[in-house]
Amino acid sequence: MDRITKIKIGRRKFLRVSAMVAAGGVLLAACGDTVSPTNTPAAGTTTVAGGATSLKLGVLLPFSGVYTQLGLDIVDGMNLYFESIGGVVAGRKIELLKEDEENDPQAALRKTKKLIESDKVDLLTGIVSSAVALGIRDTVDQAKTILVISNAGAKDITGARFSKYIFRTSFSNGQVPYPLGEWAYKNVGKKIFMTAPDYAAGRESVEGFKATFVKAGGTVVGEVYPPFGKTSDYAPFLTQIQQAKPEAVYAFYSGTEAVNFVKQYEQFGLKKDIPLVAAGFIVEQDTLPALGGAALGIKSTLHYADSLDTPENKKFVADFTSKYKRTPTTFALQGFDSARFIVEGLKVVNGDTTNKENLVKALEGVKFISPRGPLEIDPTNHGLTQNIYLRDVVAGSDGKPMNKVISTFEKIQDINTLLKN
Ligand code: PHB
Repeated sequence: MDRITKIKIGRRKFLRVSAMVAAGGVLLAACGDTVSPTNTPAAGTTTVAGGATSLKLGVLLPFSGVYTQLGLDIVDGMNLYFESIGGVVAGRKIELLKEDEENDPQAALRKTKKLIESDKVDLLTGIVSSAVALGIRDTVDQAKTILVISNAGAKDITGARFSKYIFRTSFSNGQVPYPLGEWAYKNVGKKIFMTAPDYAAGRESVEGFKATFVKAGGTVVGEVYPPFGKTSDYAPFLTQIQQAKPEAVYAFYSGTEAVNFVKQYEQFGLKKDIPLVAAGFIVEQDTLPALGGAALGIKSTLHYADSLDTPENKKFVADFTSKYKRTPTTFALQGFDSARFIVEGLKVVNGDTTNKENLVKALEGVKFISPRGPLEIDPTNHGLTQNIYLRDVVAGSDGKPMNKVISTFEKIQDINTLLKN
């Protein structure tokens, strides 16, 4: 466990430790096989033993609020990958400078400026919230700092507000439930109620589901968007759902909001009558242990399932579980893949982060078989084409709820491309 993961979220203490981490950074590895550096050191970059300059990676993630566990999982996934390569790429030690995105675009913008202007990071990664991604987009673009988004699915980042310096190794919000809409119409119900937190990710997730559900012939009987990051009592919203008498409910919730929503959905008595279908974040390993039986039977789509039966995934799950003593989430996987994506790009340019145009080209060509399946960046929008899995929460052989994969939708494109077709 590194310093960040040990933090229990006392705000004062968090700020103190966060400042320590930001000031000192976290050197991941001792100097390994050093290859002579070909890059010119950026101002403010420390020179390390062997003459190579460290690679400063700014990591902006939630370490407080409803998405705290997502941030911690992404860091753990990243560290697992970086450690697997000895913490060095093209002779440069990888140094993480972590900041809390705070689930707040204004705060995150200040942290972004600090990482770019004062810390002079070579690259940025992280970002869980779509609102944060949209809020920092112009600053990152103007600074020509390469940002590899490891979660936030905001549609415009790979669409109307595309930046050549921004890549995404996660998903687009609408991409995840896009195949679920048609499947739910055929297999679950013709009249749907939709609910999500009131911000870009929630609204775009609903939009992606609705696109194929309505096209197939389905009717939307109601929608409700509880305030994001502030709602813990869902009773007023569950009452609205009950009164609309839908045949099924579609939901996007994540982190602690997912735990509250799904538990209360059952406690309110809705689960036995109205099946819940969802974007898979709602039933990942960060929520399943707390949800227990309340999660059973939830059908969801996601670009990953820890039960995927492939050699790449088996190794990832075994390595992650052995290091952290818990099963990885999709967020951990995204951290792992973001780290690999960055490393693969840097290898092509021999670690040179000063020539941005060359690094952009190198990253556009990165392709590998991830634990989630083939991972391919679309060079036209920097989004991903990837498999989306339909999962069902069942009791595993140990009695604990787990996501069983029941079918695979292959090569689903970024939502901007899907909605054009
Ligand atoms: C987002 O804000 O883009 C977001 C947050 C949490 C998720 C998925 C998407 O689980």
